[in-house]
This record gives sequence, C-alpha cells and structure tokens, in this order.
Amino acid sequence: MNREGAKNTKEEEKKCLGKVYLVGAGPGDPGLMTLKGKGLLECADVVIYDALISPAILAMINPEAEKIDAGKRRGRHSIMQEETTQLMIDKAQDNAIVVRLKGGDPFIFGRGGEEMEELVKAGIPVEVVPGVTSGIAAPAYAGIPLTHRLYSSSVTFVTGHEAAGKYRPAVNWNAIAHGSETIVIYMGIHNLPYIVEELTAAGLSSETPIALVRWGTRPDQEELIGQLGTIVDQVASTGFEAPAIVVIGAVVKMYATFHSL
Ligand SMILES: C[S@@+](CC[C@H](N)C(=O)[O-])C[C@H]1O[C@@H](n2cnc3c(N)ncnc32)[C@H](O)[C@@H]1O
Repeated sequence: MNREGAKNTKEEEKKCLGKVYLVGAGPGDPGLMTLKGKGLLECADVVIYDALISPAILAMINPEAEKIDAGKRRGRHSIMQEETTQLMIDKAQDNAIVVRLKGGDPFIFGRGGEEMEELVKAGIPVEVVPGVTSGIAAPAYAGIPLTHRLYSSSVTFVTGHEAAGKYRPAVNWNAIAHGSETIVIYMGIHNLPYIVEELTAAGLSSETPIALVRWGTRPDQEELIGQLGTIVDQVASTGFEAPAIVVIGAVVKMYATFHSL
C-alpha cells in the first residue's frame, strides 16, 4: 500500500472509532441516573459536562477520563455552544469515546437536538441516552402528579426564557393557557411576572394553583406554593431563585395531600 493509501485508511479508522453519547444526567438525585448512562460514564475517555450536574454524578466518571466543564454562562450561550460542539467533534475524531453529559434529558430544553445535528453533519457517530427530565421529576418529588383523573388529562412543557424572535416566534401564552390543564415551565423564574400577566390576561383565574420547585430531587429542594395572583409577591418576599420548575394547574392541590402525611 502506498503512503497516501495508508494515510487514508488511518483517517477512516479515526472516523470509525470515536463516538459521542449525548447522555441525560437527570435532575440531581444520583439515583435518577440511568444504568446505561452510568455505564457510559464509567468507561468514557472524555466527559464534557454542564453546570447543573451534581457532584455525586460527576463522581461516577471513570477516574482516568478527561473531564471538561462546559458550564454555560447566561449571555454567552452561543460562543460556548460552538466551542463545546467543536470540542466533541475534535475528541471523537481523535478516537475518543465522548460522553456529553447534560442535565435532565438532553432533548428537553437542553440543546441536545442542535448538538446531535452538528455531530451528524461532521460525520461523527452519535447516540442519545435519555435522562429523567426535571419538569417531571421535580414536581414528583414535591408530591405533584402532572396528570390526575380528577384534575388534569393533559400537560404542556414550555420554556419561560425565550428571546422573542431570536430563533422562532415567541411563546404564545394565550394558546398555552387554553391548550392543556397542567402547564410545566422550565427557566420560568426570571420572567415569572410577565408569564403570570400573560396567562391571567388569557383568562386563567388568579386563584389557579401554582408551585415553584427549586433544585428538585436534591437534598436542598425547596418549594413555593401559591396562586397565580399571589406568586409574584411571594417570590419577591421570600427571595426564591432559579433554577426551578413552575407547575400551574389544579394538580398543584395534591401538594397539600402529599404533605399532610
Ligand atoms: C436549560 S434547562 C435544561 C433542562 C433539562 N434538559 C431537563 O430535562 O431537565 C435548565 C432549566 O431546567 C430546570 N431545572 C433543571 N434541573 C432542575 C432541578 N433539579 N430542579 C428544578 N428545576 C430544574 C430549571 O428550570 C432550569 O432553569
């Protein structure tokens, strides 16, 4: 085989050996990490992880692995995102088994879709390992079922942090208010006054129950329970902060049942 042939074969080998796994780490409780995700952390060559991953899950990583903190900072998302994607491509082309560890589920408000797209474009083999999303787990740990035969037969998951017009039209809160009986909002604390105003303007009663669950599933989980008409003042008076999941709808009444034990 001539030198050119040998070089091509080597480059093809490189492309075949590396792979990226987009793995969901769940919302915080290490017990919610999937067995498949844990197994991958234990044998990865490189782990690139996000800011909200709990230390107990980071402790599952193969001690020999290269660990890279890709924690995003508000306002610098696009730069960080490009760098992170390029890093995954470079490492996989260098034959590494790369785990891209993302909070919750990689495909729920986690940019997993965009990352998968870029990896596929670059010819990198990619596999997605779902995780337990915070929008389901945080309410569950607070005793709030998202559906219930008496209260709700439909759920909407929506982001509360959206730059209108940046990627697509802004969230239609009027449609969200009427679209389902339970509304679960990710990244909703910062814009809560606006969201509450939009939902009440759309016709939701100011007495509609609402729950905020901060650091859900972790030992420091905190909840704030109220009504649409009171919650903004409650947030201001208690200093309640992100990251939290917002749940709106009659299912929030179950919180009192769960905590009356
Ligand atoms: C960029 S999104 C990522 C969501 C993630 N992919 C998931 O499936 O849970 C980050 C937001 O998820 C929510 N979040 C993530 N972990 C949480 C937790 N342990 N408790 C409450 N909310 C959480 C918060 O609304 C936070 O602002």
